[in-house]
Amino acid sequence: MSAPVIAVDGPAAAGKGTLARRLAAHLGLPYLDTGLLYRATGRRVLDAGADPRDPGVAEEAARTLRPTDLERPDLRGPEADAAASAVATQPGVRAALLQWQRDFGRTHGAVLDGRDIGTVVFPDAPIKLFITASPEERARRRHLELTARGNTADPAQVLAELRARDEQDAARAVAPMKPADDAVLIDTTTLDADAAFARAVEVVRGKIET
Ligand code: CDP
Ligand code: CDP
Repeated sequence: MSAPVIAVDGPAAAGKGTLARRLAAHLGLPYLDTGLLYRATGRRVLDAGADPRDPGVAEEAARTLRPTDLERPDLRGPEADAAASAVATQPGVRAALLQWQRDFGRTHGAVLDGRDIGTVVFPDAPIKLFITASPEERARRRHLELTARGNTADPAQVLAELRARDEQDAARAVAPMKPADDAVLIDTTTLDADAAFARAVEVVRGKIET
């Protein structure tokens, strides 16, 4: 197999990024966290004083996004989560970000994590993983991350926001979050990051050898 594209999709805090980054390092492939594109777009809309649901402003923000926008320090946290998910419902935003993602993976192969990599961005990817975990476990992880960064957060509110974002991501008309028909599901509810990585390596090996 020539340098492959590996699609890693799934809901918030399932462990996609941790797994995808590690898989990329292991296989010597570039890695792209596609959520950052939506987060940075959402931030630019907030900077402009606009509502992330405003399609005109959001599409312009996505079309004029620069690589340095992905390095902003304010792309995590509840406000950025909600803005990202709101701009991500808009077809114009998704169209503007599609080419960026395809260009990244096309030439040298890559590991990309997001919501629609295996269904829309690279539907022909030879390896697709859909990473999931129970909402309670994912909220526990997100809450831990928030408190580790020194934020105070109410666990019940973290769970409610995570569920609302999952719902919006799965229900939108364009590129909704769902496993591709040929994706391999990995449920990490009872797997730590090492065990999830070991399982993913097993899947990748199986695909490369067949
Ligand atoms: O890290 P977490 O899973 O919480 O979120 P993320 O992957 O950074 O994505 C933030 C938001 O961007 C998601 O809630 C989606 O609404 C959107 N997104 C998307 O629509 N498609 C992608 N390929 C990646 C992210
Ligand atoms: O990218 P996504 O939002 O799906 O999740 P992440 O940022 O990779 O992981 C969220 C948190 O869960 C991190 O603090 C990880 O250390 C932890 N975790 C994991 O990534 N994988 C597991 N199997 C268990 C926990």
